[in-house]
Amino acid sequence: MPATVIVGAQWGDEGKGKIVDLLAQHSDIVCRYQGGPNAGHTIVADGETYKFRHMPSGILWGKECVLGAGCVVDPQVFIEELDDLEARGLSTERVRLSTNAHLIMPWHLALDQAGERRLGKLQIGTTRRGIGPAYGDKAARLGIRVQDLFDPKILRQKIEVALAEKNHWLERVYGAAPIDLEDVSARYEGYAQRLRPYIADTSLLVDRALREGRFVLFEGAQGTLLDLDHGTYPFVTSSSPIAGAAATGVGIGPNRIDAVLGVAKAYLTRVGEGPFPTEIDGPDQERVRELGGEYGTVTGRERRCGWLDLVGLRYAARLNGFTSLALTKLDVLSPFPEIPVCVRYRLPDGSETAEFPAHQGDFHHAAPVYEILPGWGEPLDGMDDVALLPEPARRYVEFVERELDVEVSLIGTGAAREHILSQRGLEAIARP
Ligand code: GDP
Ligand code: IMO
Ligand code: MG
Repeated sequence: MPATVIVGAQWGDEGKGKIVDLLAQHSDIVCRYQGGPNAGHTIVADGETYKFRHMPSGILWGKECVLGAGCVVDPQVFIEELDDLEARGLSTERVRLSTNAHLIMPWHLALDQAGERRLGKLQIGTTRRGIGPAYGDKAARLGIRVQDLFDPKILRQKIEVALAEKNHWLERVYGAAPIDLEDVSARYEGYAQRLRPYIADTSLLVDRALREGRFVLFEGAQGTLLDLDHGTYPFVTSSSPIAGAAATGVGIGPNRIDAVLGVAKAYLTRVGEGPFPTEIDGPDQERVRELGGEYGTVTGRERRCGWLDLVGLRYAARLNGFTSLALTKLDVLSPFPEIPVCVRYRLPDGSETAEFPAHQGDFHHAAPVYEILPGWGEPLDGMDDVALLPEPARRYVEFVERELDVEVSLIGTGAAREHILSQRGLEAIARP
């Protein structure tokens, strides 16, 4: 039962899309298990750039691509992605969408935007794609699911019930424009026709594939520190990106998962608000942003940049049970003569800890304790063998391995597919 979860180890944008794409060539199925169009996964292949919001990153290899029940789906965004792929000559015939996934409705987008505006300085800095309100309605059992699209009477009824309440909020609480029942019903009935060929019982599909010994990748969206239960609440997303959620999000038993590959940048970024102990103070922040192209895929916002935080990564290793780690964007650090790495936090009472604080007050006031590692001062592009890495770059990677007690099985040295170093080989990682 060869199943591997690929999960973001930081605050998202670690390069998951690229890693999933690379391993997908040796796999049979790629599944998203949570999240929605808040994700932006970039793949650079044969000189072309693809940015996926909903689509699992196995699509470029023509693999079966699944969106599980734990996802929230904006049909308009999803259909735009399908159309865009078809227009670029890629088949979407093997894409499958769970009947149980929840739909992002127009009021979710409106409420996400209005809610953030109202919070003002206290805002979370969401992607404003309706994620929180959609998962909120799901938990409150007021959500509308993919399967509801295929019964126009039920669909209209559910929209009517929802709008009676949502329009009240939009108009009376937020002073925003109300949403029209006829308009939404007609739009979503139209989506139903387009989505019909893609609908499936995706839990059954994945279970059967695993029983047949086919290789399945589970692609996390967002990252561990954005996890609703274990992340830096309330500055988190509204789903659970960590590895254990792959089982619940797709609908298989947790004992079916064989390997968990964490993906971490060689430094750290965060989009949106919330504490960030290793955020760089001074011109190096801008330098990392420029060198790493750190602008949001979904919103275009500047990503906040910081040095690698091993306290956070150690926490991610604990929460996910990494069997190995992909360390991406090592090339971005090449010009820096010295590279700080956070090994502990100093807490307000003066004590130091290597473990992630359980209390948010401690985290908010944690100061990073850095170890300064020597840089390598030469570009890494074109290097196709771990053995060719400059000695200080190798030591940087080994330092991470030692501190976390996790093998670094993949090293990213550029955005393109071929810019990846691996001692074990991609096939061995994709087929544990
Ligand atoms: P994801 O959301 O985790 O899939 O990551 P994003 O696509 O949002 O952000 C990662 C960015 O880094 C993308 O623009 C990738 O093309 C790029 N990238 C991925 N790996 C590497 C790497 O090893 N080096 C460099 N320079 N860029 C990389
Ligand atoms: P990928 O899959 C980085 C962040 C938002 C915000 C918080 C809540 O590309 O790694 P939400 O819209 O989910 O309610 O926003 O989570 N966020 C991400 N940050 N990468 C992502 O996805 C993200 N998805 C959400 O910036 O701080
Ligand atoms: Mg991203």
